[in-house]
Amino acid sequence: MAHSFNVSDRVAAGDYNEIWHRCWSESRTAWDRGEVSPALRQLIDEKGWELPSGVGIVPGCGRGYDAMFLARPGLRMVGADLSSLAVDAATAIRDERGIPADQVEFATLDFFDFAVPEGGYQVAYDYTFFCALHPSMRAAWGARYAEIMAPGAHLIALMFPLAKDDADRERGPPFLVCEDDYRRALGDCFELIHIDPSCKAHDTRVGQEVITVWRRK
Ligand SMILES: C[S@@+](CC[C@H](N)C(=O)[O-])C[C@H]1O[C@@H](n2cnc3c(N)ncnc32)[C@H](O)[C@@H]1O
Repeated sequence: MAHSFNVSDRVAAGDYNEIWHRCWSESRTAWDRGEVSPALRQLIDEKGWELPSGVGIVPGCGRGYDAMFLARPGLRMVGADLSSLAVDAATAIRDERGIPADQVEFATLDFFDFAVPEGGYQVAYDYTFFCALHPSMRAAWGARYAEIMAPGAHLIALMFPLAKDDADRERGPPFLVCEDDYRRALGDCFELIHIDPSCKAHDTRVGQEVITVWRRK
């Protein structure tokens, strides 16, 4: 199956961090659409979704467009990526745009292993991150969100790339996903409070994206 980004490496689950470092050092970032996700912009700007105030995080932020978009008065964002090259690129774009560093901070860190600020995060945005992880990591992904998010926090997950059939779900990244994969991973700690199957999508990903919002119980 063809996806709109392809990382050609095929390695064991434990070596995925290495893949991402290599992608960045070899400038292989074909997943990058160069702009904020249309579905996220639509949710906030057109549908008027109200975000909790506090601190938000975008794990696997890449060049950081979504973190920059989400930052606003009352909501300070952290864009986090394993790769310092991603973080440098995102920081350079932020500075070019004149966005103050106290509105959006980019940090080199592993989502699964960093010190969570006191009180946790009130907002998270997950796009092309769930699918970037080997399926064996999904339970850990959900447990980690449960750990880092405050009660009542909103996890906005733009599900992508949606599987239409029994295609090989072990091949990737990106690994195919479905709504049940998110439900299973997020378990009893989150409730689904919004889903829009007809949300906007990047041109090359129409039919493969559905936006959801999950509330941390
Ligand atoms: C497919 S890219 C998507 C980047 C960005 N979300 C976008 O749409 O342009 C996945 C990103 O996740 C980062 N990443 C992978 N595993 C990570 C981890 N455990 N912690 C933080 N970042 C990670 C990679 O370095 C890469 O930049």
